[in-house]
Amino acid sequence: MAHAILILAFVLTCASAWTSAQGGRITATTPKRGGNAAAAKVANPVPATVASIAAGRKTYMLLCSRCHGPAGKGDGGGAGAGGQPADFTDEVWEFGSSDGEIFAAIAEGTSADMESYAERIAAPEIWNLVNYLRSLKPRPRRL
Ligand code: HEC
Repeated sequence: MAHAILILAFVLTCASAWTSAQGGRITATTPKRGGNAAAAKVANPVPATVASIAAGRKTYMLLCSRCHGPAGKGDGGGAGAGGQPADFTDEVWEFGSSDGEIFAAIAEGTSADMESYAERIAAPEIWNLVNYLRSLKPRPRRL
């Protein structure tokens, strides 16, 4: 019986460590490698204006550049848990390339290095970040 309780406690500890890396809860929009169709359906409510991109850049420089690098090339060197920060100037979006999926990666987090920012950055500001990250690499116009 004591063993069963110990094992249960261990399993719960592991589960909570994992969910906290994911922002505390698993939802339909929790980022997945390869993309998340539910997150992709979430439309960006903030138009990618010059003002939005400038606001996103300011937040990026404060909170993100230490890992992702000043120009977004993934060369900031700050990822203490050993992850490779994403390069935003290439074509690769590991967790999906839609605005909704990029939002989910920032809001909910993907790893020990790439933490959840939902409690630190308000949603409209996360959308500004999405607009800024997209501006780093010119993309084909979406129709
Ligand atoms: C402590 C280092 C660190 C900080 C700070 C950090 N990131 Fe990350 N980020 C990473 C790592 C490492 C990955 C790759 C994660 C993985 O493969 O699970 C990543 C991945 C991402 C992705 C997914 C990219 C893709 O290819 O799908 C996005 C988007 C992102 N970060 C945005 C941000 C934003 C915006 C901020 C600031 C609010 C930020 N990150 C702060 C380390 C960091």
